[in-house]
Amino acid sequence: MMKRKVAILGSTGSIGVQTLDVIGRHPDIFEVELLTANNNWELLAKQAKRFNPNSVVVCNREHYGNLSQALEGEDIKVFAGIDSAVDLIRLSDTDIVVAAMVGFSGLRPTIEAIKSKKAIALANKETLVAAGAIVTKLAKENDVPILPVDSEHSAIFQSLQGEHAKVEKLILTASGGPFRNADKESIFNATKEEALRHPNWNMGAKVTIDSASMMNKGLEMIEASWLFGMPSEKIEIVVHPQSIIHSMVQFSDGSVKAQMGVPDMRIPIQYALSYPYRLDLNAERVDFPEIGQLTFHTPDMEKFPALALAFEAHKTGGNMACIMNGANEAAVNAFLKGKILFGRIPHIIEKCMQKCPFLKEPSLEDIFSTHLEAVRTAQDFFI
Ligand SMILES: NC(=O)c1ccc[n+]([C@@H]2O[C@H](COP(=O)([O-])OP(=O)(O)OC[C@H]3O[C@@H](n4cnc5c(N)ncnc54)[C@H](OP(=O)(O)O)[C@@H]3O)[C@@H](O)[C@H]2O)c1
Repeated sequence: MMKRKVAILGSTGSIGVQTLDVIGRHPDIFEVELLTANNNWELLAKQAKRFNPNSVVVCNREHYGNLSQALEGEDIKVFAGIDSAVDLIRLSDTDIVVAAMVGFSGLRPTIEAIKSKKAIALANKETLVAAGAIVTKLAKENDVPILPVDSEHSAIFQSLQGEHAKVEKLILTASGGPFRNADKESIFNATKEEALRHPNWNMGAKVTIDSASMMNKGLEMIEASWLFGMPSEKIEIVVHPQSIIHSMVQFSDGSVKAQMGVPDMRIPIQYALSYPYRLDLNAERVDFPEIGQLTFHTPDMEKFPALALAFEAHKTGGNMACIMNGANEAAVNAFLKGKILFGRIPHIIEKCMQKCPFLKEPSLEDIFSTHLEAVRTAQDFFI
């Protein structure tokens, strides 16, 4: 396997840190070209000293002084602002860009990476939710692979390897989050601490809240639809609390293929980085007798209305999923700041989906303005 140069957008986040863990285990195969962060300049500086990238970017310009000072004397170029990150992606000879920023902020750099023909390891699901039609078309035109990092999509991608068969349906598994067994009222009034307590995965705050509301599974359904060209009617969500089966593919002969493993994001991250090869990963293994049972059930859309909203938004098409995504980002942010109750997140999203102007065939500019409009509209509901 030839050495691969990697750029990580969002290297200080949960996915970013685990990507560097994978890279650190295979220094003969991966080399870090670029690291970016938003606020956490201290960790970015530490990562830069350890992995010696060509350049680093702190997107929030306020931290430029601190970062350059921390890296004084190192042979590493230091920049600030998202525009620098975009320019560096375009100009560098990176082989693969790990899109691990959170939320809508990942869209622009991912688009630039595709335009400059860099392979994408995609963690940032919001990119495909907000602009799936545009991003997948652009990737096709530029002959750029989008390699899934999300564990469910990686499982589907892995299950599809070597197959030339007709796919009947995709089965996306969901842990069910911390409120799987909770009643409607306690979910509505859930505190930030309760919502951040995910049973199986340790992730960034936004995706953890999305998992608690099950909006995460809605976002993933849309992501899967764009990645694998399947309509939402052929994507089934199944709650599987043990998180051992990461997702499945059902073929036209009734065979079902699944990818399994312990819940460890380094497995899908590493597969995206090394594809089509599979590298060693010296980590925990599944102990089937210890687990005993793998269970499955249908999600309760009444208890988790965000999931139903995602199906509705994707079916409507146009800029509706972008409206939903923007409203969700704003509402999750407001919940994390203690401005709204947990149960109001889906209500606010629904209101925004009714209020924001619908566009059937949005351009990329329309997507950016739709996002701003959705965030602004959602803010009207925070009292
Ligand atoms: N965590 C998981 O296990 C997991 C699993 C599957 C998919 N994903 C997806 O992967 C993406 C990243 O998730 P995460 O859990 O790693 O998030 P996270 O821990 O919150 O990290 C987000 C990263 O993005 C940076 N960032 C945030 N806002 C930014 C902005 N406006 N401009 C530039 N950079 C910005 C952060 O920088 P600072 O920290 O320096 O501020 C950080 O490096 C999300 O789309 C999520 O849905 C995550």
